[in-house]
Amino acid sequence: MKKFIVIGNPIDHSLSPKLHNYWFKVNNINAEYHTKLAQVSDLVNLINSLRKGEIEGANVTVPFKNEIINFLDELSPEAKVTRSVNTLLKDQGKIIGHNTDIAGFELAMRHTKYDLSQKNILILGAGGVVPSIVYALEKSKVSKITIMNRTFEKAKILGERFKNIEVKKWGSQLNFDMIINATSLGLSKNDKIDLRFEDLGDNKFFYDVIYNPIQTNFLKDAKRNFHKTENGKMMFIYQAHQAFTLWHKKMPDINDEVINLIK
Ligand code: ATR
Repeated sequence: MKKFIVIGNPIDHSLSPKLHNYWFKVNNINAEYHTKLAQVSDLVNLINSLRKGEIEGANVTVPFKNEIINFLDELSPEAKVTRSVNTLLKDQGKIIGHNTDIAGFELAMRHTKYDLSQKNILILGAGGVVPSIVYALEKSKVSKITIMNRTFEKAKILGERFKNIEVKKWGSQLNFDMIINATSLGLSKNDKIDLRFEDLGDNKFFYDVIYNPIQTNFLKDAKRNFHKTENGKMMFIYQAHQAFTLWHKKMPDINDEVINLIK
């Protein structure tokens, strides 16, 4: 039986096993997928397990998407640009790092039918997934991307890598068509983002990368004020879909049953 894992810390909230194990079943693939809580010191063992074929493929999540690069033989072009890897596989003896978050975000945006062109986008956070979102947005002809992060220095580093983005201090005045929560605030039910969301104008789009819980306070408050909202569920499903396709050379279905699995 082929083995697949997702490593991260924390990892309990991950619904990747549920999704991949479901696709294994409906596609008659003899494999199992489970989570592994890891420390940085475990990364070398993970790569060795892939080399030896004990594990067939892996997903990498917070906080290892960048750190894992030190142990890899090759990166896909997208992983190279974003310095972020969420999918590992062995190809002709080499351990390759891919980034399927970019396609995950792009396809999720297409799913919302929101027209990104000429939009003013504000991203909250500067963690692992942000370079992928910036990269995807830059391809979508948005008019402006601004990043705001609690730790200014981290946003500034991103600003040096992506020359077209503007970096603002956490707590600066909010001005956007679409705001993306890419912080980890919201993973706990009572988390609240300490920014002022009043006087924004109408019809803004609030997007949260978090999909578990389904609705963060960030989205609840936006909905109460009649803004458009979307959680990270479809991004999660599409990034998994891309990873599955890389591993199994086969595209699994995304239908209502799959979408309803992720709750
Ligand atoms: P990492 O930072 O290790 O890549 P991440 O989950 O990808 O992990 O990113 C967490 C993001 O949530 C960061 O942008 C973090 O801000 P800092 O860079 O200042 O740590 C943000 N974050 C976490 N807790 C926060 C809080 N209480 N208020 C504001 N931002 C927070």
